Amino acid sequence: MLPVPLLEDLGPLEGRSVLVRVDFNVPLAGGGPGTTAEIADDLRIRAALPTLRWLLARGAIITACTHLGRPKGQPDPRYSVQPVRQRLAELAPGVELLENLRFEPGETANDPGLAERLVAGHDAYVNDAFGASHRAHASIVGPPRWLPSAAGRLLAREVEVLGGLRDAPRRPFVAVLGGAKVSDKLGVIDALLEMVDALVIGGAMCFTFLKARGHRVGASLCEESMVGHCRELLDGPTPIHLPYDLTALGPGGVPGDPGAGGDVLQVRADVPDGWMGVDIGPGSAAQFGDVIHEAGTVFWNGPMGVFEDPRFGGGTGAVAAAMAETRAMTVVGGGDSAAAARRFGVDRDMDHVSTGGGASLELIEKGDLPGLTALRRAT
Ligand code: 3PG
Repeated sequence: MLPVPLLEDLGPLEGRSVLVRVDFNVPLAGGGPGTTAEIADDLRIRAALPTLRWLLARGAIITACTHLGRPKGQPDPRYSVQPVRQRLAELAPGVELLENLRFEPGETANDPGLAERLVAGHDAYVNDAFGASHRAHASIVGPPRWLPSAAGRLLAREVEVLGGLRDAPRRPFVAVLGGAKVSDKLGVIDALLEMVDALVIGGAMCFTFLKARGHRVGASLCEESMVGHCRELLDGPTPIHLPYDLTALGPGGVPGDPGAGGDVLQVRADVPDGWMGVDIGPGSAAQFGDVIHEAGTVFWNGPMGVFEDPRFGGGTGAVAAAMAETRAMTVVGGGDSAAAARRFGVDRDMDHVSTGGGASLELIEKGDLPGLTALRRAT
């Protein structure tokens, strides 16, 4: 993967004004009428601290900017960065934070006028927003047209680790994929099959593959339109491990809502009519664990079941435990998988937990991101 300019490349920063694009798109809780939203998890703020502190230590004056949620190009108090500002003031005093970039219609429209306003008065630009670097938005691709630019520490590390998976993984290289839909991950599945020595598939997406292999899927999530493509992938040269047993929920049950009732059964790879597969079974969890133990590198993206519901957390918990125990280099994609690693208390045992969900998959799939290309073309 092509390198990106680093903080050291910016030269002396004493008294210089630096615009830092961060990804402080943190989960918020509360914030109904008359109440202020609170940050449910400040991981993304803490993840930018090495960059902010490095710049502060060199005398830079920092203006940070971020998006938060998906407001529709106009101010919306539900998405104000105010709670983030308060937390940032505690963690990195002296760093100014602009209001939500997505209050401006020009941000997602990649309006050069907005980028020009953002860079005004600044001497350098730093992108540390890995989770947003797959978006060709004004604050991501615009500033490098005008300012000397560099990747922050977080972004540089993501590029090093995820780029390393593409360029020179320790073998055997295994990818463990879960999540709801094959169609959402088609690009990355195709790309991974070119790179890995084995692909392990759990989560709801396994039912489309199981159907392609001739199994009955009952009422499980299954994308009929993708069954043919999955069959082609299963016939390809890269081994694909699918679960051979499942934890299934009976009629009337609701995944994620134990109070709604419904019987829970261990079944083989055929799901009875009216039943829904909601997790991989214990035999498959052990088998997937063996594959992880024997790997040289493991990339994990997507839970194996509805792990938020204790009835269906066994598969994801087993994969998390195997990831923590294996001697392989372990890399966890952002989003749900990072949340699962934290939930099962193994996040600190991983070699790398990405801060980007969509961005990590796109970087693995395409080998580059709009935000990285922009940094390389900087003035
Ligand atoms: C994320 O949470 O994945 C990033 O902050 C990107 O957010 P977006 O999908 O709204 O662009």
